[in-house]
Amino acid sequence: MLLEICDIRKKYGEQLVLDGVNLSCDEGSIVGLLGPNGAGKSTLMKIVTGYITSDGGSVLVDGKKPSIASSRIVGYLPEHNPLYLDMYVKEYLEFVGGLYRLDNLKQRVTDVISEVGLKSEYRKRISHLSKGFRQRVGIAAAIIHNPRLLILDEPTTGLDPNQLIEIRTLIKCLGKQRLVILSTHIMQEVEAVCDDVVLLNHGRIVASGLKDKLVGEYGSIENLFHNVTK
Ligand SMILES: Nc1ncnc2c1ncn2[C@@H]1O[C@H](COP(=O)(O)OP(=O)(O)OP(=O)(O)O)[C@@H](O)[C@H]1O
Ligand SMILES: [Mg+2]
Repeated sequence: MLLEICDIRKKYGEQLVLDGVNLSCDEGSIVGLLGPNGAGKSTLMKIVTGYITSDGGSVLVDGKKPSIASSRIVGYLPEHNPLYLDMYVKEYLEFVGGLYRLDNLKQRVTDVISEVGLKSEYRKRISHLSKGFRQRVGIAAAIIHNPRLLILDEPTTGLDPNQLIEIRTLIKCLGKQRLVILSTHIMQEVEAVCDDVVLLNHGRIVASGLKDKLVGEYGSIENLFHNVTK
């Protein structure tokens, strides 16, 4: 298994935010991580990427604990997509790729610009981009080193309907050879993009499984969500 999450617990002060989360997933699938606001989705993603530590349990990515070394096989688009707004798109992607010391940096930046549909915008300053294109820059930066595990925290929030379809198609494509874990509040998106679904509520997994099976049982992912998070 590429990702093994075992009994993860996390507290912020007195608040127990993750309460014994277990999850194993492998490459070639897109996992939708769902749950109400405050359920613990972003916290779990930060733990998997090694940005914060847990207070118990373990995470293994390709058999290793999250670290600088494992970050080479993990790509992460954090919630709210933090970017250096004063940088130009190409300059920023070269900067991020440089951090990974990619041999073929220039070529990789050109490829990724084309892959995420930034060809018309890559000469612009990031602060001058529309929200959808900023989102693409965040995704480009997350995949520049061709990670095997890609974590996308609400990647499509605020996109227009056309960009929404394009980014979903891109995520589908990225998930063919990688493990993609994505969080979203858009249930149609889960139905359109994900192979598997994991539903968190108050820091616990309350439902998980193949999307098609869950849709068969509950009629829709939205029904499942309402049923198990009430
Ligand atoms: N750095 C922090 N310090 C204290 N509490 C925090 C911190 N980060 C998150 N929390 C709390 O942990 C809980 C889970 O937050 P988290 O961001 O993981 O939820 P989420 O499922 O991603 O929610 P959303 O759907 O709104 O993005 C919330 O109650 C939040 O207030
Ligand atoms: Mg969140």
